Amino acid sequence: MSLLMERKSVRKFLDKKVEEEKITAILKSAFQAPSAKNQQPWEFIVVDDKKLLLQLSKISKGAHPLSVCDKAIVPIFKQTLKSPHFIIEDMSSCTTNILLEAVNQGLGAVWIGVYPLTDRTTLTNEILKIKELFNAFSIIALGYEDGFKEVTKRYDESKVHRNHKIA
Ligand SMILES: Cc1cc2nc3c(=O)[nH]c(=O)nc-3n(C[C@H](O)[C@H](O)[C@H](O)COP(=O)(O)O)c2cc1C
Repeated sequence: MSLLMERKSVRKFLDKKVEEEKITAILKSAFQAPSAKNQQPWEFIVVDDKKLLLQLSKISKGAHPLSVCDKAIVPIFKQTLKSPHFIIEDMSSCTTNILLEAVNQGLGAVWIGVYPLTDRTTLTNEILKIKELFNAFSIIALGYEDGFKEVTKRYDESKVHRNHKIA
């Protein structure tokens, strides 16, 4: 089974440290993501301060995994860009690389949605002191999975079309 087929959202984590080498491997994969005009709008904040993780876990209802994860990575992006229309695509592609490399490193992860919701983005920017031209895009909670959750298989042939979408 490929790496992609093993990815799932993990929201419960063991009280176990994620090794720094694994964080570095994940960041290397994030930087390899494709981006429009190769603009690479991203920078990354690694959060391992428990107080900050707790504050981030309150930015939205769905952010609760941040209160129990060991570390988080926050992809941030610069506002002034060659190709501003594709910022969401670029930042989603690096976020996805983080999720997939986490699987490769034997870790669990979940994407916490931030941008473009103004309240979540403002809160995350404030907590992490992200200023001026930069904005938080997403937060990825990382850790060793507590328990084991099966991956849901979703392939649906009825939604696959050849050449035209008829009916
Ligand atoms: C843009 C985006 C935002 C998401 N935000 C959250 C979130 O805030 N909290 C959360 O627990 N999961 C979040 N998720 C994870 C989805 O809920 C999850 O991917 C979906 O339910 C499918 O489950 P799976 O990842 O296990 O395949 C988000 C996913 C995406 C792509």
